[in-house]
Amino acid sequence: MSLPEDGAPVQFETHIKPLFRDKDRQSMRMHFDLGSYEDVSDAADRILERLRGGSMPCDGAWPPQQVEAFERWVDGGKLP
Ligand code: HEM
Repeated sequence: MSLPEDGAPVQFETHIKPLFRDKDRQSMRMHFDLGSYEDVSDAADRILERLRGGSMPCDGAWPPQQVEAFERWVDGGKLP
């Protein structure tokens, strides 16, 4: 897993997709595919809300740096 450097553009393939485990992808497949750029882009607001609130992943909140990376990806225009 490689978190984006300070100020660097955040990209889905490089920085965001690797944050999701196989378990996350399997658990959420009825809702969306966490491995898909299109699905994660479409659900980004709902995903960010859960990540911030700490209710997802179901087995433990992400560390703040990961939530920040996701937030920066959204704010940066959801680069592929
Ligand atoms: C980083 C990983 C994950 C993200 C971003 C995520 C995101 C979300 C979101 C946004 C919802 C609301 C439904 C929707 O908006 O379509 C949701 C629901 C749900 N997730 Fe996840 N999830 C993750 C991992 C997991 C894991 C590991 C589990 C447990 C095995 C899980 C179980 C559920 C269940 C049971 C619901 C439906 C009940 C509810 O809304 O609380 N998720 N998740």
